[in-house]
Formats: sequence, structure tokens, C-alpha cells
Amino acid sequence: MLEELKEHVVRIAKQAQRAGLCKHKAGNVSAKDPETGYVCITPSGVDREVLTADQVCVLDENLNVIEGGKPSSESLMHLECYKARPDINAIVHTHSTMASAFACLNKPIPAFIFELFVFNLDNATIPVAPYKLPGTTDLAESVANTVKKSDLVLMERHGTIAVGKDLDEAYENADYIEELAHIYYYILTLNNGQDPKIFTEQDFKEWKYPDQIKKNEDCTGPQN
Ligand code: 13P
Repeated sequence: MLEELKEHVVRIAKQAQRAGLCKHKAGNVSAKDPETGYVCITPSGVDREVLTADQVCVLDENLNVIEGGKPSSESLMHLECYKARPDINAIVHTHSTMASAFACLNKPIPAFIFELFVFNLDNATIPVAPYKLPGTTDLAESVANTVKKSDLVLMERHGTIAVGKDLDEAYENADYIEELAHIYYYILTLNNGQDPKIFTEQDFKEWKYPDQIKKNEDCTGPQN
């Protein structure tokens, strides 16, 4: 069942481990099949280097295991995030180093750089989901509420969550949040711990694709 999606989950989980975003079996990856609503999720406590597609678990929306062994202990958190954000089909949870440092300090990351405008941020800020015990309904609620405000979320005293319309986008966002945390760390270090000039939500709303760029009538290729 859902073999292609499971393979994709495995590829992304291995990529996250090799990139250093998920070390020591930490983190988990899931993807929702839009047709059935089933969620493919990494198994609990399996090193991604040895992870295979047949170990990926399939869950229904009520947390019933349809296929596979022992799903991630954070399965409820993933399911609640899908319910909170019907526009997403993939989630990557990491314990990546620099982003986790800000998460441990309960320090939201403000919009210090313009590229943050693409992440559906409320108040132009990467928010922190309040700490709750891992694996619990309380944590699932805390993260699901926060993911309504942003595609990138810090989890207090825990790690990060990145969501996307598909697995590649969720992975890219997980990579991004770590990179942004690094840049923010350097800014604070170079600036005596002070925030730099910060963008507002209004600044972000002003961006549009430049209308000076026009297509020739005989231009071929994708029409996006
Ligand atoms: P699982 O291996 O159960 O997914 O847990 C890993 C983790 O990082 C929990 O936050």
C-alpha cells in the first residue's frame, strides 16, 4: 500500500540524517496521501541508515495502524498538524542543532531577512510551540496550534517542525529553519545580542513578482 509514498518518506528521512538535521535516531518524517487521507510515517527508534520502505507505517486519521510495525511516538502530533493545516501533505520533525538552541531558549526568530516571507508567518515571526511532554496529546495540540501560524515552528525544549505541500518542500523548510537559525545566531553575536532591523507582515505583503518581466508571444516551455 502507498509504496511510492513510503519510498519517498525513506529518501527524505535518510537525507535529513545525512544532512545532520536528524542525528542519533532523533526526528521523524510523514506524508499524507491526499486520496485516502492515510499517513505514511517513519517507525519509532529506527536508524535512518538502515530504514527501508517496508518499515514505514501507514496510519488512518484516528491513529489506527493500517500497515507496519511501531509508528513514531510523535504520530499524534503529525496527525493533529494535518488536521490543523488541510493545505499540507508532509511534515519533517528534527532536532537540528542551532534551531533547537533557540527552541530551548523559548526564543522566537523574527523576520530579519526578506526570504522569510514565503513561510506563511503570522506576525512575521517563526513561533515557538510551548513545551509539553513528548508523545502526549498536549504536545500534539501545542504544535498543531502553532503550525497554524507558520510553516516553520520551533518546539520549546525539543526541536523543530517544518511542513509543506509535499515531502520535498517540508524537507527544504526543515533545512531552511536550521540555516535561518544559524544566520540569526551570527547576527546576535555580531550585534551584541541585539536584534537587527526586523521586517513586518506589511513589508511581506508588498512583494510581488516583477511585472516588467514579459513573455514573448513565441516563448516556449512551461506556462507557469
Ligand atoms: P520516534 O523515533 O518515536 O519517531 O521519536 C524520535 C523523536 O525525535 C521524538 O521527538
